[in-house]
Amino acid sequence: MSGPWWARPGLEVRHGRLRIAGRDGEALAREHGTPLYAYDLVRMEEQARALRDALARAGLRHRVRLALKAQRAPEALAVLRALGPPGHPAGVGIDACSPRELLHALEHGWAPEEISYTGTNVSERDLDVVLAHPVHINVDLLSQLERVGRRAPGRAIGLRVNPRAGAGWDGSQTYSGERPTKFGIYEEDLERAVEAARRHALVIDTVHFHVGRAYLTEALPALERAIEGAARMTRRLKEAGMPIGEVNVGGGLGVPQRAGDRPLDLDAWTAILARHLVPLEVVVACEPGDYLTKECGHLLAEVVTVEDRAGATFVGLDAGFTVAPEHFIYGMPVQVVVCRAAGETGTGTVTVAGNINEGDDLFAEDVPLPPVEEGDIVAILNVGSYNAVMAMEHCLRPPAASVFFTDRV
Ligand SMILES: Cc1ncc(COP(=O)(O)O)c(C=O)c1O
Repeated sequence: MSGPWWARPGLEVRHGRLRIAGRDGEALAREHGTPLYAYDLVRMEEQARALRDALARAGLRHRVRLALKAQRAPEALAVLRALGPPGHPAGVGIDACSPRELLHALEHGWAPEEISYTGTNVSERDLDVVLAHPVHINVDLLSQLERVGRRAPGRAIGLRVNPRAGAGWDGSQTYSGERPTKFGIYEEDLERAVEAARRHALVIDTVHFHVGRAYLTEALPALERAIEGAARMTRRLKEAGMPIGEVNVGGGLGVPQRAGDRPLDLDAWTAILARHLVPLEVVVACEPGDYLTKECGHLLAEVVTVEDRAGATFVGLDAGFTVAPEHFIYGMPVQVVVCRAAGETGTGTVTVAGNINEGDDLFAEDVPLPPVEEGDIVAILNVGSYNAVMAMEHCLRPPAASVFFTDRV
């Protein structure tokens, strides 16, 4: 398809103007006010189906769950829920990471058996809620094994492991790499984990790891090293008599974020999973957040300032990091588009700034943008995950409103 790198069905340029789910982006902003998230939930459905189809093509017995931390709007959850009822192979389960996420999933129609709980630094109070439901809990530290064992002897649990390798869009290894991280049992501690589990009659039936962030095809060799390590640990657990029925490879699957990025080759991804996990005769589970929901949401904002200052052009918006924190927390690149000139790249470069009184409240620096004026509407593309959910009240700025579309016109 010709046109900007980000264009695709549901996010198009028509007569020079940005269309989201077939609707005119600027018209949405004028109708509903800014800042405004516009969600094309068809995209989420497409991503879920693509993932499921790829896993099926590779002959993997599989489960797909949504990492609820990425996107929890009831409207989005209703679309995922409708893909398949509890127990149905087409259904998408939930990865929850806090007691309130667990309750949120239950309230929105998920059965406890469809929910996988992977927390970090889980407290007794967290366990009060989690253990009250027959959800599957993955435990990620020796001390947590002891705690869960004391509270729920005999329970079937998963073990989050740390294979000391990981894959990130920028090469980062925040979850699992050379540096010690707070997540997962290291291989040298596996025997202690088995011993603790046995002491409490805990049955380890799942191996879990989450080692990636927004990785694309180029990062798959790094991911494969992590999977190799996790597969080795799975074999050791099986040899120790643990009935491992599922290996959960976490999330971390990325979508294109910058010009030149190519979509993740799902067949290359599943080929790696198949190579290392099929011999283990396990169900392969994954729990993406970004992959399912990042591309479905776009933030619309009004330009309130255009000013040349000391050689730089600042374009100021009526939205800041409080409504869209992902870029500021993870450093993800941001693509800003002028809704009425969506097909144009622009000749000059600008700095796109937010409305929060902090010097770092900059969405993008020195990026090309077509000429803009006060009152124009811009879109920050592909921010459907880790943004609305992370909104904060700093400066008492209210959250952005949202509109959700379940069809394309
Ligand atoms: C345990 C776990 N699973 C899944 C995810 C989802 O990750 P992503 O949105 O990168 O797919 C996360 C994100 O932090 C996580 O911590």
